[in-house]
Amino acid sequence: MHRGLFITFEGADGCGKTTQIRLLDEYLRAKGKTTILTREPGAKGLGVKLREILLNYEGEVSPNCESFLFLADRAQHVDCIIKPALKEGKIVLCDRHTDSTAAYQGYGRGINLDEIKKLNEIAVSGLKPDLTIVFDIDIETSLSRVGNEKDRMESAGVEFFNRVRNGYLEIAKQEPDRVKIINASDTIDNIHKKVVELVEKL
Ligand code: TYD
Repeated sequence: MHRGLFITFEGADGCGKTTQIRLLDEYLRAKGKTTILTREPGAKGLGVKLREILLNYEGEVSPNCESFLFLADRAQHVDCIIKPALKEGKIVLCDRHTDSTAAYQGYGRGINLDEIKKLNEIAVSGLKPDLTIVFDIDIETSLSRVGNEKDRMESAGVEFFNRVRNGYLEIAKQEPDRVKIINASDTIDNIHKKVVELVEKL
């Protein structure tokens, strides 16, 4: 059992979650809470090297290899950063976590979802977010926000991202207590208010 709070932010590329996670971090700090703002892939150290491969490697990367690299990054992140912070009672705000692998490698790339679930369980060894917020937005809008300089994942195409988006909606349906959806086409301020409402309930 951990004493802190673990909140994950999810959604397709360009959904605005990184802006929102920063705003929530500022809000919580202003209220005197101790937070850490972190991300997957590539929070620190070894993770940064894995992120570089995952986002920028130019040769072929098989879907299985891609999954294991994201999972390797996750295992390191959970063991070395997230769990120690939770033990100290901190609020951990994490930009992407297990649901990204289900949405991108499972629904997106087509890897068996039960296998991903098992592998995720191994990577996190018992850890589960207290709250996951999915920022939902139509893919054309989100990809236009990403712009022309796309990394390896962002170059996967509109059909791939529609599968990712539908994957997130499916995950939220399956775990309605943990996973909450926010319409990410609203204004930054309104979205922030909705995020705060969800977090205050915790
Ligand atoms: P990043 O630049 O952090 O994107 P964003 O700002 O949208 O979070 O890149 C992370 C990319 O990696 C993003 O395209 C989603 C993808 N990803 C997966 O495919 N599987 C995963 O398990 C994780 C954590 C990320």
